[in-house]
Amino acid sequence: MQLSKRLYAIAECVPKESKVVDVGTDHAHIPIYLMRNSRAASCIATDINRGPLEKARLNMKTYGVHTIDLRLANGLKGIKEDEADVIIIAGMGGYLIIDILENSPQIVKEVKKLILQPQQDIPLVRKFLHTIGFKIEDEKFIEEDGKYYTIIVAALGNEAYEKDYEYEYGKILIHKKTETFKEYILRKQDKLTEIYQNISQIDTEYTSQRKKELEKETRMHKEVMQCIF
Ligand SMILES: C[S@@+](CC[C@H](N)C(=O)[O-])C[C@H]1O[C@@H](n2cnc3c(N)ncnc32)[C@H](O)[C@@H]1O
Repeated sequence: MQLSKRLYAIAECVPKESKVVDVGTDHAHIPIYLMRNSRAASCIATDINRGPLEKARLNMKTYGVHTIDLRLANGLKGIKEDEADVIIIAGMGGYLIIDILENSPQIVKEVKKLILQPQQDIPLVRKFLHTIGFKIEDEKFIEEDGKYYTIIVAALGNEAYEKDYEYEYGKILIHKKTETFKEYILRKQDKLTEIYQNISQIDTEYTSQRKKELEKETRMHKEVMQCIF
C-alpha cells in the first residue's frame, strides 16, 4: 500500500514496537501501513462514525491485515490505560484535537508519544501541549498537492517557549529551516501584505481590529524571517 506523503510522514514518527491508537482513523491507512510493515506491536483504530469504520474494515480486508482493533468511539473514550503508548490524531482541527486529549487525561499521561497533525489552529495545539506537561520533541512540515501540513511529535516533559512567534510558526520548524518551510514563510509574507492592502482603505470596527491582528502577525513573521534567512 502506498501511503500519501502526509500519512507516510506521520507513520514514520511511530517508534518500532509501539502500542498505537489512531484516533479518527477514517480509512485506517496508517494502522494498515504500520501493521504490514511490522512497525507497531498493536494497533487500535477508532472513529466516532460507523461509515469510516466500514471503510477501514474493507481496507483491512483488501490489504490482508486482520489484527487492527477497530472501535466505534468518541476520541480516546473506551481506550484502557495499558492499551496505548503512542496516540496519533491527524487530519482534524486543533480545537477538536485539544478536546479529545483534554477529555482523557488518564490515558494521555501514560503515553510515550503524541503524534498530532492539526489542520488548523496549530499554535493553540503547541500551547496546549505545554500546559499539560508535554514537550515538543519534533515537528515535520510537508507540502502535498499544494497544501502545507504540520506534524507535531510530543512526549512528557516540561517546556515553554519564550516568544509568541515560536508558538505561531513552531520553534523546531524555525530551527530546521527546511526548503518547504522557507517557501511557506515567503508565501505567507505575500499573503499578509495582500490581506492588509485589501482592507487598508476600509474603516470599520471589524477592519480596525483585523488590522491590529495583521500588524501583530506581520511582526511575528518578520522575526521568523530574520531567524531563517
Ligand atoms: C478528516 S478525517 C482524517 C482521517 C485520518 N486521520 C487522516 O488523517 O487522514 C477525520 C476523521 O475523524 C473522525 N472523527 C471526528 N471526530 C472524532 C472524534 N471525536 N473521535 C473519533 N473520531 C472522530 C471522523 O469521523 C473522520 O473519519
